[in-house]
Amino acid sequence: MSNDGVNVGRRRFLVAATSVVGAAGAVGAAVPFVGSWFPSAKAKAAGAPVKVNVSKIEPGQQMIAEWRGQPVFIVRRTPEILANLKKIEGQLSDPDSKNSTQPTYVDPEVRSIKPELLLLVGICTHLGCSPTFRPEVAPADLGKDWVGGYFCPCHGSHYDLAGRVYKSQPAPLNLPVPPHSYESDSIIVIGVDQEKA
Ligand code: FES
Repeated sequence: MSNDGVNVGRRRFLVAATSVVGAAGAVGAAVPFVGSWFPSAKAKAAGAPVKVNVSKIEPGQQMIAEWRGQPVFIVRRTPEILANLKKIEGQLSDPDSKNSTQPTYVDPEVRSIKPELLLLVGICTHLGCSPTFRPEVAPADLGKDWVGGYFCPCHGSHYDLAGRVYKSQPAPLNLPVPPHSYESDSIIVIGVDQEKA
């Protein structure tokens, strides 16, 4: 963190990512087909699917994987967490995820294939900081109505434990759900759609 409270590491990442996109765009404009026919080894690695063993995630806890250089939050939700998702819908900006990003095979409210296992791209939809996992109920700093979710330290956006953003937050959209599929009960493949697995 810098003195002004902005996540400097994240800002550097964004600058670097923007540079790469800019360079790729320029190449694509000059030689429109070469890029898609012959993707570089680096580009393939950057987009490659990632297999994650989720068997060690305790109920109510999260692990963080990395896919395409982005953090992916994986949470094992408890029955209590799932029950709370319904109770807070009136406080959310897009409870049915109509304007947000998730694969079609994901339930738009619970936002997962299996209810208990949630996957989210861990990048705030405001300006790209990484939100903090705050699963506790009613912690002093988040208030007595907090039922667990994510808090973005940069400008204070709040999300629930389906990655859905609360109303009147800086962040405009829910956290995206990445494409994913189950290779087995304990192995999730991030980057491969369920229908194609
Ligand atoms: S980056 Fe601004 S609230 Fe998250």
